[in-house]
Amino acid sequence: MSIDRDVTEKETVVIFDTTLRDGEQSPGATLNVEEKLEIARQLSRLGVDICEAGFPIASPGDFEAVRRIAEEVGPLTEGRKSGQPMVIAGLARAAERDIQRAYDAVKVAPRHRIHTFLATSDIHLEYKLKIDREECIDQAIAAVTFARSLCNDVEFSPEDAGRSDPDFLVQVLGEVIKAGATTLNIPDTVGYTTPEEFGGLIKYLRENTPGADKVVWSVHCHNDLGLATANTLAAVQNGARQVEVTINGIGERAGNTSLEEVAMAIQTRPQVFDVETNIDSTQITQASHMVSAYTGMMVQPNKAIVGANAFAHEAGIHQHGMLQNQETYEIMRPETVGLTASKLVLGKHSGKHAYKKRIEELGYSLPDDELRQAVNRLKRVADKKKTITDADIRAIVADELYRAPEIWKLLHVQVSSGDVLMPTATVHLKNENGEEFRDAALGTGPVDAVYQAISRIIGVKSSLVEYSINAVTEGLDAQAEASIRIEPANGETTYGVNPQTGRQYIRTYSGRGASTDVVVASARAYIHALNKLLSSREHDEDDSAAVEL
Ligand code: KIV
Ligand code: ZN
Repeated sequence: MSIDRDVTEKETVVIFDTTLRDGEQSPGATLNVEEKLEIARQLSRLGVDICEAGFPIASPGDFEAVRRIAEEVGPLTEGRKSGQPMVIAGLARAAERDIQRAYDAVKVAPRHRIHTFLATSDIHLEYKLKIDREECIDQAIAAVTFARSLCNDVEFSPEDAGRSDPDFLVQVLGEVIKAGATTLNIPDTVGYTTPEEFGGLIKYLRENTPGADKVVWSVHCHNDLGLATANTLAAVQNGARQVEVTINGIGERAGNTSLEEVAMAIQTRPQVFDVETNIDSTQITQASHMVSAYTGMMVQPNKAIVGANAFAHEAGIHQHGMLQNQETYEIMRPETVGLTASKLVLGKHSGKHAYKKRIEELGYSLPDDELRQAVNRLKRVADKKKTITDADIRAIVADELYRAPEIWKLLHVQVSSGDVLMPTATVHLKNENGEEFRDAALGTGPVDAVYQAISRIIGVKSSLVEYSINAVTEGLDAQAEASIRIEPANGETTYGVNPQTGRQYIRTYSGRGASTDVVVASARAYIHALNKLLSSREHDEDDSAAVEL
């Protein structure tokens, strides 16, 4: 006898993550290749279906990062609900050279995609591209035809669709479907639309574009009016089956739709959104911490899902309700997003194995040397603090992880300061050739004095554009985590390229450092940022072939 099950298969919404492409376009979010690889591995564990790994034509460095992600992360299936590896996508403007470069970067991944885009709004056609609508259609067809000659999985985006004439969009999209596009992505590039409008646009396009049923409809929203998540969800309710998102919502200007908000809305409100995703929500917190640490972009405490206060209950009346029944004030359990108290209590008596195990459980895959160093540092912190929490581990691991190439290393720092003394710092550094240098400097405060002394030794001029210091955990013995951003000064400036505007932007470099001493944490953060600046300068010299956009 067969059991009658009242189970209707839900449709899947494909999660397309663009943290490493649109997210990396956030001012100052420059990531090095090792950081990109580590984030891509975490996206794979998180269950992301498609990872847009970068914009390969932008520079040889960008190409190499996408290629390595395709090669090293592209085949991974471990822990993935779908059982399938991620699709690795590369972005390309609607030009053969771009498309070929994107294909060459992603082709080693078992599943790969070319994502090509061309603006369709009148304002972009007239002022940016200086072409008319007819030329726009011809370029779009040519781009998709060429991309399909290389690859079966081709996505086309009519940039600034949110401000494009819907009937012109119908025309362009009908043509690119004929040319072989398999996914049509509708971007609200400048975050202009409202949920009702954007949902209506998706419905209109699906109902009126010839061949609409042959493709997957996707959306890509920006958050300029704070509506990116609402617009994305309105699109899902109107038939979009791919959403383009980033971890923590990072991205151009006010950012992109945040992955965690969309995934948790779908998971928490199944009656409203009759779809599902392949996301393993318990990996969300780790992904959020990792992206924040590597990009140097702090998450606001009240940010939905991943903010430090997202599951904190302060008001007495709330706490009372929570004690009776958690559902009084909690619509999601913290564990569902991976926010768990460490099951293991670590302290100064814990062995190295216990530390290693917890680091791995938290999702880090450190090379042996760095793992050893992180464990040694944690043991030293445990000598000063009673217990080591996951937050301590994350701070030390993020601090230790991929500081390489360690062109300069901090050996010692000492400061004297106070209300009558002129703050003075002495620093002792070692370079990659093993040479050691000492210098001292005065400053307006102890951190300034340390930074002056470091700059004198290293000889790089830069200005500090952001500096923050946070306690990792509660209590007076807490570790401090310094997070900074610097901009090279006096002709030392390096540039990145924005694929949409074609404009160069000044690169800033983030650095982080953790220690139980705020001055040491600040010094480590500064050296980290300077090492990134110096190594990217080496790459930029190789990047002489960087494309003129
Ligand atoms: O915002 C945008 O239009 C984009 C496209 C390249 C999809 O990022
Ligand atoms: Zn975008």
